[in-house]
Amino acid sequence: MAEHKGKGRGRSRGNARKQRGGGRPPGEPKQEEGGRLNKYIARAGVCSRRNADALIDQGLVKVNDVVVHEYWYNVTPEDVVEVNGRVISPRRFVYLMLNKPKDTITTTKDERGRRTVIDLIDLPPEARAGLYPVGRLDRDTLGVLLLTNDGELAHRLMHPRYEVTKRYLVQTKKSIKPHEVEQLKEGISLDDGMARADMAAYVDSARRDEIGLEIHEGRNRQVRRMLEALGHDVIRLERVMYGNLTTVGVRRGKWRRLTALEVRRLRKLVHLK
Ligand code: URA
Repeated sequence: MAEHKGKGRGRSRGNARKQRGGGRPPGEPKQEEGGRLNKYIARAGVCSRRNADALIDQGLVKVNDVVVHEYWYNVTPEDVVEVNGRVISPRRFVYLMLNKPKDTITTTKDERGRRTVIDLIDLPPEARAGLYPVGRLDRDTLGVLLLTNDGELAHRLMHPRYEVTKRYLVQTKKSIKPHEVEQLKEGISLDDGMARADMAAYVDSARRDEIGLEIHEGRNRQVRRMLEALGHDVIRLERVMYGNLTTVGVRRGKWRRLTALEVRRLRKLVHLK
């Protein structure tokens, strides 16, 4: 197997291109952009940039038929990049916000044929390909759900390190007592560790069965489990805010594309340029 170990775009890159016979194969769409190899792989929707580094380390990435070991290798629009034997190409990123309705599964495909969040995105199949939900909302949880094919951004948004704020509106069967609201902020012991709300408060001073609650983690059923630990049944759960996004102006079950400004703000939240 040909191996490329040179630094960046030096001699070995030229070798890589020569071995291929130059340029892209017939029918391969022309890429508008190149860039660093790990970023290029992430932009193709294969995986996050960090996982791309691992693929490169394992020798699974070739440029113009030559194995490349440098994450920083500078790919040009004419290069042909293969991961695990499959030619990849960067896609345009798509960023959508769905106002998730009840009875919808947060997955791309459900083996039992139940309605998924992707089923609600009425775009042609090629435009939906590679889109996946960022994080997970339970089947009956409503509200803000981001969908994208930008693996790097999605990976970071889901990572607890970046502490992206999620605000929920929680309705319970019984009244929540003031000391229980305090306890949610102090911390609740769950079977996977302590869980703390960054904010918890009644929404309406006349109602004790509804609170607003903010968390920055995304553990499975976290809000429901926090309330259950206090002996409460959650009868309605809506995510009203995710980072800088809300459902304002988007009807339940509908979606919209994010604006460029919203995408920039999301990227900034997770320290991406
Ligand atoms: N917490 C939950 O319990 N469920 C959700 O869907 C989201 C957060």
